[in-house]
Amino acid sequence: MSIQNAADIRRNTAPDIRARKGREPIVSLTAYHAHTARWLDAHVDLLLVGDSLGMVMHGFESTVPVTLDMMILQGHAVMRGSKKALVVVDLPFGTYEASPEQAFHTAARVLKETGCGAVKMEGGVRMAEHVRFLTERGVPVMGHVGLTPQSINTLGSFRARGREESEWGPILDDAKAIADAGAFSIVLEAMAEPLAVKITKEVSVPTIGIGASSACDGQILVLEDLLGLSPRVPKFVKQYADMGRLIEEAVSNYANEVRDRSFPSAEHVYALKNKAKQDAGSK
Ligand code: KIV
Repeated sequence: MSIQNAADIRRNTAPDIRARKGREPIVSLTAYHAHTARWLDAHVDLLLVGDSLGMVMHGFESTVPVTLDMMILQGHAVMRGSKKALVVVDLPFGTYEASPEQAFHTAARVLKETGCGAVKMEGGVRMAEHVRFLTERGVPVMGHVGLTPQSINTLGSFRARGREESEWGPILDDAKAIADAGAFSIVLEAMAEPLAVKITKEVSVPTIGIGASSACDGQILVLEDLLGLSPRVPKFVKQYADMGRLIEEAVSNYANEVRDRSFPSAEHVYALKNKAKQDAGSK
């Protein structure tokens, strides 16, 4: 069941996002829950159910332990909460890399079981065949190059990429390979600004930056990072609110009121029906 009225649902599609190249910036955020998706939906073009949910919601050290069932559960929740944004669901580590066929079976399950409009896969040249296989079979794919967190165990760190010009070649090749294979957009994560500018100029599909450049065709951030709910955030995050502090304040007020018995007060408890009528009549 959706928390949105079915008649109001009119979503962006992958081709709508693809057509935005070089036009108005594409606003994107991550979302993992139905109710946060409902708040974000009016303001964004695209919602990503990112595998960062493993770190943000579950406290894992990396995205590697995230399972397909976790992605499907949260993907479905975000679909229930939104009606306008294109919802893209990340394929988690170990569910797509082995072959284009494996990627197709995983992506088909995600599309069928969540109702989302596209999937995202990490990797460049090595994933181009997978991207082509999926797009030719009706699965819109968003690419993801630069820092690819699912490869943390071979990369060794979450450091930004391409800060030496000599490192640019393979990253540019990755972006071009994914675009040529049919991806409808590409996330550029944590890379030197001039490299992101160059990729954005040279690929035919929209680039969505995270720690990349304002010249990208769109931007994405992890919602909890921008709200101030994450304990550690990378340099590229701008914190637009300090909700962690607000939560602490609210919870501390609640705890004090429970301890001094000022909560619940009369307005938060149920009086006997007759007593309530008498009280209303005597006013
Ligand atoms: O999982 C994620 O949150 C991502 C980021 C690029 C936003 O992939």
